Parts: sequence; structure tokens; C-alpha cells
Amino acid sequence: MWQTEDQLLVPEHWCNFVFDYPQYAVRKTLGTPAALERGTRGVSIAPQQPLALGKQSCNTTDPLIPIPERLLSLYRQYRPTPLRRARQLEQRLDANARIYYKFEGANIAGSHKLNTALAQVYYYRRAGVEHLVTGTGAGQWGTALAYACKLLGMECTVFMVGSSLRQKPQRGTLMRLFGATIHESPSGLTEVGRQARRWDTEGTGTLAVATGEALEFAHSRRRTRFAVGSGENCVLLHQTVIGSEALAQMTALDEFPDWVVACMGAGSNFAGVGLPFLRAAKERSRSVRLLAVESAACPRLTRGRYAYDLNDFSGTTPISLMYTLGSGYIPPPVYAGGLRYHGASPFLSAMYADRMFDAEAIDQLTVLRAGLELAESEGILPAPESAHAVAGVIRVAQRHPHDAPPLVLLVNISGHGLLDIAAYEKFLSGRMDPGWPDDRLLSESLQQVDQLNARLDAPAVELEEPVR
Ligand SMILES: Cc1ncc(COP(=O)(O)O)c(C=O)c1O
Repeated sequence: MWQTEDQLLVPEHWCNFVFDYPQYAVRKTLGTPAALERGTRGVSIAPQQPLALGKQSCNTTDPLIPIPERLLSLYRQYRPTPLRRARQLEQRLDANARIYYKFEGANIAGSHKLNTALAQVYYYRRAGVEHLVTGTGAGQWGTALAYACKLLGMECTVFMVGSSLRQKPQRGTLMRLFGATIHESPSGLTEVGRQARRWDTEGTGTLAVATGEALEFAHSRRRTRFAVGSGENCVLLHQTVIGSEALAQMTALDEFPDWVVACMGAGSNFAGVGLPFLRAAKERSRSVRLLAVESAACPRLTRGRYAYDLNDFSGTTPISLMYTLGSGYIPPPVYAGGLRYHGASPFLSAMYADRMFDAEAIDQLTVLRAGLELAESEGILPAPESAHAVAGVIRVAQRHPHDAPPLVLLVNISGHGLLDIAAYEKFLSGRMDPGWPDDRLLSESLQQVDQLNARLDAPAVELEEPVR
């Protein structure tokens, strides 16, 4: 399974969690809203993805999926990524825990997103596509796609959420350096953007709108496709290089984590680091718990509905069963733009409905304080998204009693925060607000989800109380 080059170990396979849990991979989609109106319920849209990616998303037969040689050589540019013990942080916290962190920020795009950007560009290019279009929240995904397109010779267009682009214009510059074209979303360029501007008068933007714009833009052009940054099984699969690599690194240290902690947007880095450990725990008769940390501004798992909902604002993609706050919900413009998406991956949502992992929502002030704590103790300034995971692991460590055997913790730092200086600056100024959601807006949005489900006559989904 392992490849040696200059004594560097990079996984040669992706860890196929769909093989492990086929029950969660059943595609619970209801077709697009337009198809439903025409009465063609259950009919999905024409395949937009190369067959290889589609197959990866629903492969229930192969436990390991080989990473093509060309892609491996690109991964080796920045992999394996470091796994380190956070000794200074442990001392500061006076915690009864050994805390390890995996750092995915040491590549030009600055985050884990490059793992799937390279894979997707590789497969799209092989399928004859020349131009990829996407929506990005915080900009990490857009930057990764722009760089991957540059490396493999494809054109790239990115719709970036307006509030995020204004918070960190350097993200836009970085994407342009790689030759991508950037549009601030909602833009006047697409019907979706023009519609959104009618109610989003300040141009705050959401990932659902940026995604809708990118889809519309891609549909209208030849040899052009929409690339997705998270949520789909194949994207989660590409991220399993993180967990497989961390597993080998921890095994070499004779360690196995009691908890694996990661932040959660739609869920790719959480699945990528966590699911290989669930498999390993089963194989080794060990136990491990996974904690997904979400933004209190956008608490899909801890306050959302497990229901059918739109994936994007335009309703171009099929309706999925997932944890959602409603596709029209505009979360407060917190700095962790990558955690502001209204829904969670359908696969992870199904797992969470069975409480296969834990979830906590943490406010922006606690998160940035934790990010600074990591910077001061370990010399890594995490992206605001990744700082959620740091805040989460600190909580787990601090809750653990001193008279128990020490905990072993693994936290994934999904990206660096060197282009998020404005967020830390605001934090230092004392003028940052915690980013709590407006309860009225949230409950109105959830009512819309309920109304949509009533119209769809969707089967009711019964759930226990969410873990808080
Ligand atoms: C640094 C970073 N971490 C995490 C996320 C969340 O995405 P996902 O849940 O797919 O990992 C993002 C999304 O933009 C991100 O930029």
C-alpha cells in the first residue's frame, strides 16, 4: 500500500469508505426541482462528471481505490504532510492528553483542498474537458482549483462569495496569479446572481448562490464543467490520503488516537482524516471517536434538520437528504467562510443520523482564541476554519480528568491562516462578534425546509436529540 520515494511515504490508494458503509451511500436524491414540477420525480440530471468520478462516489466493491501514477507524482510535490506532537500546547493546557496534529496547509493553495482539486482536474482533463468553473467560500477551494488547472493546462473560472472576497482580497490575487478568472458573487453575470442581488442587497453572498452561479455559467459553455469542492463522496474519498497517511505516521510512533477532531464544512476534510481511522479501529479491534466541529454561525448538524433540501440556490442540482439549515439561509459573515455552507455531505449526514460521530458548534471568538493559542505554542497560524478543530481538540483535552489514563488526540489543521490576517486583526482589536446566528432568520429558513419537504411529500425522518 505504501510507496517510497526519497524515503517519503505517500498512500498509493484512497480509502473507500463507501465499501465500509454501503448503507450510507444509498443516493437519497429526488431529482431537480424543475424535474419534480414536471412530475418526473427521481429522474436525475444528465451526468456532468467524468465516469471515473461518478464510479468513485458509489463504489461498494473495492476497499482501496488506486491513485493514478500521474496524480501520485503531483501529490508528492507536497505530501506526505507533517504529523507533529503539539507538546507546547499540551503544556499550556495542562491537559492529560498527547495531542498530535496533521498539517495540510503546507502547499501553495494553503489547504487540504488541493488533494481533490488535483484529482478532479486530472479526471476532467482525461475526459476532454477544457474549462472548469466553481463556487468558493473562503477561497481555499478556488485557489486549489486554480492552481491544479494551471498545473494541468486547463482554464478556470471562480465565483467567490462576496463577503469573503472583501475580507481577503489576496485570495483573489493568488487565484489570478494562476491564471483563473474571479467573479464576486452574487454577480450580475448570471440569472442566479441577479436574482440573489434582489434580496441580498449588501452582496454578502453564500456558497449556495456562488455554486448556483458557477453551475449556470458552466452549463452555457462548451467543454466546460462545474467542479465541486466538497460534499460528494468522490471528493471525500480524495481527502482520505490525509487519514491514511496520518494512520501510518501514528502507527510508526506506536500511537492510535482515542479521538480524531476536524472542522466541518460540507465535510471533506473531516471524512478524509476520520474515516480511515474508523476502518483501522475495526481492523485492529480498537476504538476511536470522531468529532466534527462546525461554526456556531452555521450549525447544520447541531441545529439543522435532517431533511430533503436544495444543494444550491438555483435548484440546478438534485435535492438531497442531508442535515441542512435551508439553501436560502444566510449565515452571519464570519471569517470561516468555508464553514458557511447550509448543508452537510449526504453520506456524512446519514452517518450522523445514526450518531456514528459527535458534533459541536463553536463561536468565532472561542475559535480565533484557539487559533492564536496554536500559533503561540506550535508556530502555526491556522485558517479560521481549521481553528475550529483546534478549539474542539482543546475542549476534548480539557474535559478529560487528570486521574484517568492520558488521551491520545489527533486534530487535522486543514489550512494555514496567513491570508486570514484580517480575521486575527479584528480579533485582536476586540471588535469581533461571536457570530451567533439570528434565531428568527434561522427558524424561518428551517420552516422553508419543512414546507419544501411537505410539498415533496418526503418520508418523515425521525431523530434523537442532536448531540451538543
Ligand atoms: C481551510 C479549510 N478547512 C475546512 C474547510 C471546510 O470544508 P470541508 O468540510 O469540505 O473540509 C474549508 C472550506 O473552504 C477550508 O478552506
